[in-house]
Amino acid sequence: MTQSAAKPIYVLNGPNLNLLGEREPEIYGRATLADIEAACRARAQSHGFHIVFRQTNVEGELIGWLHEARSAGCAVVLNAAGWTHTSVALHDAVKAIAIPVIETHLSNPGAREPFRHVSYVSMAAKGVIAGFGAQSYLLAIDAAAACAAPSS
Ligand code: DQA
Repeated sequence: MTQSAAKPIYVLNGPNLNLLGEREPEIYGRATLADIEAACRARAQSHGFHIVFRQTNVEGELIGWLHEARSAGCAVVLNAAGWTHTSVALHDAVKAIAIPVIETHLSNPGAREPFRHVSYVSMAAKGVIAGFGAQSYLLAIDAAAACAAPSS
């Protein structure tokens, strides 16, 4: 099977990320989520992968998409935003899927307020990319493609 025929990389975004570009731009930058989606699509294509790109402000919807990715995807790039620091249910959903999940953040939560230092996603994820602004997503796509490539 060629990589272009492979299952897609799911890029899943949690709460408030629909406001990127306007929301605390000094922390999260000026790129909108649509800008990030276009950049992710191009980056994935350069590796021979398609993406499914989604955002939700409803926690159960994100969990449902993780369940979907479990069989329909080859890897997940996950920016769970605020739920990263609060959600045992999200932790359990990540643990329930065998494909690699790459936790991704625009900012570096470890260098911010103490309540952001705990990540329920990190404990279950394959790895973490954080602190590089919109570039974090592209580095995460690189990592997802490397994990999902048939030779790896
Ligand atoms: C974030 C970091 C989280 O702590 C925060 O709640 C977000 C965005 C990031 O991408 O930097 O909403 O996930």
